[in-house]
Amino acid sequence: MRVALIGFGNVGRAFADLLRRQRARFPFRIVGVHTRHGTAIDNAGLSAGAELGPAAPTVEEFLDRARPEVAAELTTLNPETGEPAISHIRAAFERGCHVITANKGPIAHAYAALREEARRAGVEFRFESTVMDGAPVFNSVRNNLPGVKVLGFTGALNSTSKIVVAAMRNGKSMEEGVGEAQRMGIAEADAAYDIDGWDSAAKTAALANVLMDARVTPHDVERSGIRRLTPARLRKLAGERKTIVLVSRAHIASGGVRLRVRAEVLEETDIIAAAQGTSNILLLHTDLMGTVGTVSISPGLEQTAYGVFSDLVDIARSL
Ligand SMILES: NC(=O)c1ccc[n+]([C@@H]2O[C@H](COP(=O)([O-])OP(=O)(O)OC[C@H]3O[C@@H](n4cnc5c(N)ncnc54)[C@H](OP(=O)(O)O)[C@@H]3O)[C@@H](O)[C@H]2O)c1
Repeated sequence: MRVALIGFGNVGRAFADLLRRQRARFPFRIVGVHTRHGTAIDNAGLSAGAELGPAAPTVEEFLDRARPEVAAELTTLNPETGEPAISHIRAAFERGCHVITANKGPIAHAYAALREEARRAGVEFRFESTVMDGAPVFNSVRNNLPGVKVLGFTGALNSTSKIVVAAMRNGKSMEEGVGEAQRMGIAEADAAYDIDGWDSAAKTAALANVLMDARVTPHDVERSGIRRLTPARLRKLAGERKTIVLVSRAHIASGGVRLRVRAEVLEETDIIAAAQGTSNILLLHTDLMGTVGTVSISPGLEQTAYGVFSDLVDIARSL
């Protein structure tokens, strides 16, 4: 299968590495890579060390030249608009390409419309790695919880904030904590989106749109981040065996789905607080299955890449 990557940063490179390592089992071929700074296209398949040449002027032109069957949208998150990723995805649909994205912006801002456009184009649209990296959330509900209605959820979904809180509990500054997350490759390109709760709000909106048909955007999420935390406050809470976690919550209320992202004080033994470091936890509150959860222990870029890969394998199997 011919795959083109729009965006070739941490996730794009990890995904390309994973495809190469799995080549003996899965005959996927990367026929093009495109960023604002450079483009590479080889219809026979790009080799590992292929250099990027001059950038194609537009994503449309890149797709027309690379002619992939599947486009992987792996560009930078813009949680306030979801663009330009939404337009990239539409350009791929218009060319009859299946689309996989790790970018939660489009799911948080335009899921219902994009799902309908994919259906009309007769292509698949997958986004497993947008929330909890490679751990199955969307695919798990779709495949393993038939007939279940999701009534709400509770999650600790932003790794960077946890790395920052842990660093500050150890007396380091917020900037030092952000630096640690950046060195791990897990912070958003603009880490303020992690600190101010935008990344969590985008994940919350994405989950609500897909699992609860909420038709919201991150602007509908009541949002506060961890910017006002201090090492002194965290050390005091640590003395009381408490900590602070950036928690996403959703529930059905009169008038629709209510969504909130807030830095909450939790007991250290609270199941939501137990997911430390890059570990993530999501509890789904359902009508028929009670509360059921997914935990991902210390995922890294390889697991995000696996989320994209799992979507690709699933698409290939469905054809
Ligand atoms: N890193 C993680 O752990 C993780 C986990 C789950 C999901 N995600 C999501 O995955 C996506 C990629 O994350 P990342 O860590 O790989 O980001 P990154 O390292 O900042 O890479 C982003 C890539 O997108 C390209 N890009 C940005 N705007 C573009 C545009 N308009 N047209 C074409 N290319 C563009 C960038 O290259 P140029 O600057 O040259 O354009 C770069 O190659 C984000 O949406 C992120 O939220 C990341």
